[in-house]
Amino acid sequence: MQTEQTDIGGGIDMTKPPNTEHDKGLKYFMTLQQNELFLKEGSHRLILKNRELGKEDERDIIYDIDTLVLKNSKGKNVGYVIFCENLTEKYKLQEKLQSMEKLSLAGQLAAGAAHEIKNPLASIRGFVQLLQESFHKNDKRREYTKIIIEEVDRLNELVRELLFIAKPSPDVKTRGNINKTVDDTILVVNSKAIMNDVVIHRESSEVPEIIFNPEHMKQVFLNLMNNAIDAMPKGGNLFVRSFHKDNRIHIEIQDEGCGIKPEHIDRLFEPFFTTKEDGTGLGLPITKKIIQNHSGEIQVKSKPGKGSCFTVLLPTM
Ligand SMILES: Nc1ncnc2c1ncn2[C@@H]1O[C@H](COP(=O)(O)OP(=O)(O)OP(=O)(O)O)[C@@H](O)[C@H]1O
Ligand SMILES: [Mg+2]
Repeated sequence: MQTEQTDIGGGIDMTKPPNTEHDKGLKYFMTLQQNELFLKEGSHRLILKNRELGKEDERDIIYDIDTLVLKNSKGKNVGYVIFCENLTEKYKLQEKLQSMEKLSLAGQLAAGAAHEIKNPLASIRGFVQLLQESFHKNDKRREYTKIIIEEVDRLNELVRELLFIAKPSPDVKTRGNINKTVDDTILVVNSKAIMNDVVIHRESSEVPEIIFNPEHMKQVFLNLMNNAIDAMPKGGNLFVRSFHKDNRIHIEIQDEGCGIKPEHIDRLFEPFFTTKEDGTGLGLPITKKIIQNHSGEIQVKSKPGKGSCFTVLLPTM
């Protein structure tokens, strides 16, 4: 049987949009039947263009439909057998897999490149520092060398992040209180928060001790808090909450910033996805990798223009 690919999204008035649930999709399919589009024997691919849907889910909905025409002995059509399979989830999984492949490829590239870059950077930094000291205090060139050093430090930070993906540092996990790591991280980001008119509100309740890598988890909270502050260039409130519920420790990092566009939500954890001029797009993939390494989970809720909330969930059992 031949498969026809049909984009009929533009022709449908989706006043009440279907979601990916099979029964709703089927209902839609039945209304489409009025067009007699699929009463032709064969296999059909139906793509419901999701542009009229709510902003929360902009993904297309994909069905495979097989139609069999039942005929009587005189060759007259007496009925139809229609199989309808919703393939949206299957495609979602495929995309996830591709993102994982990209991550591993990024790791391999990073391993090769990072080492080669690190050594020349160290000598550039060293010699520029010497040069800086040789200039008189009022010499304008001192300012230039300062900028070179700052930029070299930025490159070093990037190499360090790339190396983390390729070769994570030894995973030393110990038993302890994650609230302390959250508090330590707040101390680190506090000066950046003050500079950006961001007020950090810490709300914490007792949580059980768990086994975790404090350095790695600090990196997680640092990435999330830095992103939250970046999202509020005109200042605002950053809420950091932690509590214990349903055998998991929840750590919420909630901002009142620009929020995340719905079409970006699925790409947040992709390596190198960034909307920032000077971003590397490695913060969230690293964050996710560390959390997975702790058998945990990260969830995101965001409303454009209102803010975002990232929740880290760590199992206690
Ligand atoms: N709290 C947030 N509010 C709004 N957008 C966010 C938030 N956190 C992440 N994002 C979006 O996700 C993108 C990816 O974040 P990620 O931390 O991975 O990289 P980055 O912050 O751009 O760069 P860096 O590698 O320096 O962290 C950001 O560029 C931004 O568009
Ligand atoms: Mg970031």
